[in-house]
Amino acid sequence: MNEKAHSARWARIVGDSRKSEMVLVADVPSVGVVGFGSCGSARAKALQQAGEVYMLYIRPEYQDHGIGRKLLYRLFDSLVVRGMSSAVVWVLSENPSRFFYETMGGRRIAERTNRKWDSVIRETAYGWDDLAHVRDRSDARKAR
Ligand SMILES: CC(C)(COP(=O)(O)OP(=O)(O)OC[C@H]1O[C@@H](n2cnc3c(N)ncnc32)[C@H](O)[C@@H]1OP(=O)(O)O)[C@@H](O)C(=O)NCCC(=O)NCCS
Repeated sequence: MNEKAHSARWARIVGDSRKSEMVLVADVPSVGVVGFGSCGSARAKALQQAGEVYMLYIRPEYQDHGIGRKLLYRLFDSLVVRGMSSAVVWVLSENPSRFFYETMGGRRIAERTNRKWDSVIRETAYGWDDLAHVRDRSDARKAR
């Protein structure tokens, strides 16, 4: 990953209100931005999910404080408001963070192998079919 190229890309996305990609940040008072996520319509049309969470990152020192959950739910809300009631997240299969999406109620629905950054990359997709009720199901799971 290249910092200059990524900074330019994000500046373009955040600065262009016509872009369909939505970006949300987690802002802690007196600290600033500690995490961000983006979403929009699903890029892999072969899957039935309409929306996609493209990216979700929380600064390491702010992980495990419930911020990732809040941000993911807000991303889901943004998709629902734009008429997308289901979503997918593609995550590197070797990334232990993928189990976060299982905790968030995502079902493992697909795998793919891509060539990226001069390597063969394996990715796993997690899907949610009813975004409007994700919070209710998560609360019910916790209560059990
Ligand atoms: C994955 C990530 C977004 C989670 O955000 P977070 O703020 O640390 O997670 P939260 O504190 O909101 O956790 C919510 C729940 O998920 C669980 N959880 C968090 N990370 C987990 C993991 N890696 N595996 C399993 N469960 C996990 C928490 O225990 C918590 O469960 P509980 O409510 O039952 O106690 C964050 O750790 C991160 O940015 N990781 C590095 C970047 C990355 O790899 N992103 C994914 C690429 S798309």
